Amino acid sequence: EKITAFRKALLDWYDAEGRSHLPWRENNDPYRIWVSEIMLQQTRVITVIPYFNHFMMLFPSIKALAEADEEILLKAWEGLGYYSRVRNLQKAAQQIMKEYDGVFPNDPAEIIKLKGIGPYTAGAISSMAFNLPEPAVDGNVMRVFSRVFEIGEDIAKPATRKIFELLVRILVDPERPGDFNQAIMDLGTDICAPSNPRPEESPIKEFNAAYQNGTMHLYPFKSKA
Ligand code: ADE
Repeated sequence: EKITAFRKALLDWYDAEGRSHLPWRENNDPYRIWVSEIMLQQTRVITVIPYFNHFMMLFPSIKALAEADEEILLKAWEGLGYYSRVRNLQKAAQQIMKEYDGVFPNDPAEIIKLKGIGPYTAGAISSMAFNLPEPAVDGNVMRVFSRVFEIGEDIAKPATRKIFELLVRILVDPERPGDFNQAIMDLGTDICAPSNPRPEESPIKEFNAAYQNGTMHLYPFKSKA
């Protein structure tokens, strides 16, 4: 039925066109996925790649990060900005050493307790590293689904994310949740971009209500306040 067709269209496109070469997509290591997601929070993919590779060389494991010298750690982050991100990374690594024996927890309810990890990042790690059908909803994901389903809720309101999370829980591919979430991210960066989207090139254009109805300009709705 329709959800199955949506998943297939999206994942077939991801397999053919997705950015499978990104270094944090090489394997399912939760440490690598976590660090990449923190870097990607305020920084573009193209900028993150060299920082990510360098960071992994300097701090190849949770233990190495937990024990890292502060000066070397901050130096590795120089240019990325928002230094609280890397300070929280190290605090969380120390938390994992102490509370989880150095093993990254595989339960979303535990993951979200780690310093610096909110609902989006917890969902991203749960789905990509542990294959759990968890939503990972950020602004890009809300943009895609607001258009697909003509959802006019104000994406500037914190409560709106929960609506999209409920939706993604239903839609997410139960066999490939991490790929599903990353396919939506790739779609949101490339085709379903904030400006000059190219919906006619989208693998899911037939499911895109706003495109089909000519209402693309209305979505996503974001108040100025
Ligand atoms: N932005 C945030 N997470 C990402 C990911 N896993 N791949 C590409 N872009 C992202």
